[in-house]
Amino acid sequence: MPISANADDSLNGKALYQANCAACHGVDGNPTEFGKSLKPFPARDHRAVVGLVERDELRRIINYGIAGTEMTPKKYDLDGLQIEAVIDYMETFKYTPDLANGKVRFEAVCASCHGLDGRAKTGMGAKNLVYSTLTLQEMAHTMRYGRPGTKMTSKRHQLTNKDIADVANYAHELRYKADAAKGKKLYASNCASCHSTPSAIKLTGNAASKRTLADLSDRLLDLRITHGRHIDRAGKDVGKLSADNISDIIAHMRKSTK
Ligand code: HEC
Ligand code: HEC
Ligand code: HEC
Repeated sequence: MPISANADDSLNGKALYQANCAACHGVDGNPTEFGKSLKPFPARDHRAVVGLVERDELRRIINYGIAGTEMTPKKYDLDGLQIEAVIDYMETFKYTPDLANGKVRFEAVCASCHGLDGRAKTGMGAKNLVYSTLTLQEMAHTMRYGRPGTKMTSKRHQLTNKDIADVANYAHELRYKADAAKGKKLYASNCASCHSTPSAIKLTGNAASKRTLADLSDRLLDLRITHGRHIDRAGKDVGKLSADNISDIIAHMRKSTK
């Protein structure tokens, strides 16, 4: 028999949240004074996790709790459908990230390894965030849980959820934004002598005749332009182009072969 969440009050997410969560997390996801006073860790702000934390992860935390904290497993109080209704309600919360705060926190907490500009030239083995391919959600996940076995430790108890949201958005904004117009000029001075236009480029390797530039990801294209064999043919100047230059050139190539 189909079950409709609205027809049945036992599946009203807002009411369930207020009865089971609000004492600590607040009625609107903003923790209460009581929630903030909890040890060893305070209740966390639910407004700032919406859109950043996957539903699966919320489901897991609500079902199993967080060991060693006041966040006890809720699967004994709420059944599976009720937990889904609570998550639906949580997903109505909203938070607008504060990029200025994200910058301040990034510089204080991340820059020692990732560099002020995020390019990670610090000798700490950190990743270059400007060329990271992670989504905003994956960045937040990396911040929340860290990368076990590396210097990238979990920031969950060092930063509040708002700070995590602000920093994740700021770090995601640091990503290099390729400029096709610059790429066009760079192409003219570095590539056009051999490949008059991007569509004139012949790909090498198996099945080359069946492939076009569009079949190669940016990363593969970058490798084919900057790897040794092409540099042997194209000359040292091409090898000296920066990662930003190559990104701009690829943006131009994409645009002109679309
Ligand atoms: C007795 C207080 C209390 C109640 C009631 C409570 N929580 Fe929590 N909750 C906490 C605390 C404390 C934490 C933080 C634990 C930590 O930092 O590891 C937390 C963390 C969480 C997190 C992880 C947030 C994050 O940013 O990582 C989620 C999700 C969550 N609670 C959902 C719920 C839901 C949904 C309910 C109601 C069904 C609920 N909680 C009820 C105290 C509570
Ligand atoms: C103590 C050094 C250190 C600090 C501080 C640090 N990180 Fe990292 N971070 C690393 C290292 C090392 C890696 C690479 C981990 C690996 O090998 O997967 C990394 C990886 C990452 C990644 C994954 C990037 C990718 O493309 O895979 C993200 C995102 C990230 N860090 C964000 C942050 C943010 C945001 C902060 C600040 C809140 C921060 N890090 C603070 C060392 C650090
Ligand atoms: C001095 C000549 C020369 C210059 C300059 C040059 N290339 Fe090439 N490139 C070649 C040759 C030769 C090949 C091998 C395929 C062919 O014969 O067309 C090639 C192949 C390629 C390929 C295909 C690689 C593969 O493995 O499938 C790409 C993409 C490419 N060039 C892009 C560029 C870009 C972008 C620039 C400018 C930054 C550039 N080339 C500059 C000579 C050049």
